[in-house]
Amino acid sequence: QIKAVSKLLNEKVYLVGGIVRDLILNLPNEDIDIVVENDANNFAKNLSEFLPTAKIRIHDQFKTATIFLENGLSIDIATLRSEYYEYPTALPIVTQGTIKDDLFRRDFTINALAIDISHNNFGKLLDFFKGYNDIKNKNIKIIHNISFIDDPTRIIRACRFASRYNFTIENETHDLILDAIEMGILERLSWNRLKNEFQYILEDKNPSKGILLLNKYNLLKLFHDNIILDKSLLKKLNLANKFKNIFAIKLEYWIVFLLVLTSQLNSKELEIIFLKFGFSKNFINKHKFGIEKRKILLEELNSKNKNSEIYSLLKNIPEEVLILLILESTRENKVKIKSYLFNLKGKVAIIKGRDLLELGLESGPHLKEYIEKSFLIQLDQINPSKDSILKELNL
Ligand code: CTP
Repeated sequence: QIKAVSKLLNEKVYLVGGIVRDLILNLPNEDIDIVVENDANNFAKNLSEFLPTAKIRIHDQFKTATIFLENGLSIDIATLRSEYYEYPTALPIVTQGTIKDDLFRRDFTINALAIDISHNNFGKLLDFFKGYNDIKNKNIKIIHNISFIDDPTRIIRACRFASRYNFTIENETHDLILDAIEMGILERLSWNRLKNEFQYILEDKNPSKGILLLNKYNLLKLFHDNIILDKSLLKKLNLANKFKNIFAIKLEYWIVFLLVLTSQLNSKELEIIFLKFGFSKNFINKHKFGIEKRKILLEELNSKNKNSEIYSLLKNIPEEVLILLILESTRENKVKIKSYLFNLKGKVAIIKGRDLLELGLESGPHLKEYIEKSFLIQLDQINPSKDSILKELNL
């Protein structure tokens, strides 16, 4: 369809950005970014006519559009542009340009490849800045010398891509990062932009490597002055990476990394970080409680052996905090916390309120107590059944 619309409108179309890089790396990427030479909105409108079930959103102001496909994928369409910055850290001034200009304004050579998908040139790789070689040689390399001055967040992006793909930040790029940092360019960035970049690193494939790189450039201080990447913190970060596949399905795993990274901070400092990340009051209270109390919790857990005791102790602690506890605890306690997370927490109560009502109990707080009690009994029995639980409840 893209080819057809390209022919119909006589419009040049290119696949650009991360998806081209990941195609070459043979990695999945669901962010489809395309740029067209003249008019993204018109192109999007015409393309959506070929895709009757797709939804389209036009952003007139930025001359961009997004098409949402039925299968959950979306296509971002932009008009070719060239950008320049009036002063460092400013938002760019945008003018119309060629595909080469459009790619030149981008961050790294590995992100500045395009595939021509126009009707008359379909499939041709455009590589003006030797990005293909840099992908093959595992190099993170900027395209022009003032790239980091134009957009200092690219320093953190360099750490992210290097850690995600296990690439090396090439020497000249490394020196330019050092120069930019020395100029204090990152301190001029708003917290919001910094925060997003930090969060992307924590959400990425291998956050511990990204954090190590940030530390190498002495950038963890932008996160918080009192974070020291010592052996113990590094060990926890690596362990958190190891557990990621086991736990990531169920929760926002980047928060675990955030908790590990801030695990040396005191309560007040932690609260400030949470507030800076925009978490709700409820989130902050629950997580802060668990984190403040974690030493005591682990001590208490030492003496808890029955399932019901373990459940009662851990039930109000958020899962991300429990994973932090696993990283900090003895082998015995690790087993107990894992058993809570994988086994106890998801158990369905055999005795329901209606069972107790049928037995003549009246509704109210009393009934709730019985329900809770019967659930704890259930957790401790080997083959629990309605009868065996009710028997132990003396009902
Ligand atoms: N880009 C840039 N400078 C930035 C951010 C983005 O030059 N500070 C360009 C890069 O060419 C990048 C493209 O915009 O490939 C899209 O940006 P983004 O979606 O943030 O990155 P991706 O490369 O798609 O990476 P990811 O896989 O993390 O989405």
